[in-house]
Amino acid sequence: MEFKSTSESDTFNLGKKLAGQLSPGDIVALYGDLGSGKTAMIQGICDYFDVDEIVVSPTFTIVNRYEGKEKNIPILIYHIDLYRIESEKELKEIGFSEYLNDESAIKLIEWADKTSLIPDSAIKITIKTDKNNDNFRKITIENLDPILNEA
Ligand SMILES: Nc1ncnc2c1ncn2[C@@H]1O[C@H](COP(=O)(O)OP(=O)(O)OP(=O)(O)O)[C@@H](O)[C@H]1O
Ligand SMILES: [Mg+2]
Repeated sequence: MEFKSTSESDTFNLGKKLAGQLSPGDIVALYGDLGSGKTAMIQGICDYFDVDEIVVSPTFTIVNRYEGKEKNIPILIYHIDLYRIESEKELKEIGFSEYLNDESAIKLIEWADKTSLIPDSAIKITIKTDKNNDNFRKITIENLDPILNEA
């Protein structure tokens, strides 16, 4: 699936919309340059799940844990940012596989290209910027059932 976004709120709203198709155990791997909008998309996903905390890239802690809900059912979300990870050894130290394999949680992973552990079955979101337009993004989503308004 391919979408066009022309603003941060567009990207947020796409995240909010696709979140309805997520369930515990899912891995969402996000790919895209610095400032492309990975966190904006995750903020939309977390808004759908009524997360109260302020959703920001967990750059120093690597992992943020949010307690969200859907129709009053609690949903655990791990927001993981691998930007600062430099080796598979470091991934091991933060217990990345344990988070990845936690079937009770939805895992949202920024800079997923920093690891080879993302399974092929993961939902993959790639955000591409446009050198001619600061606000334009091409967003490709793989391994998710079609959602409306594909552009
Ligand atoms: N169409 C768009 N979608 C998302 N963000 C946009 C868009 N147009 C402009 N922006 C701006 O791009 C920036 C995206 O920042 P964001 O923190 O979401 O990126 P990121 O991919 O998480 O970056 P990082 O790799 O540093 O974590 C924001 O400043 C936002 O206002
Ligand atoms: Mg980010």
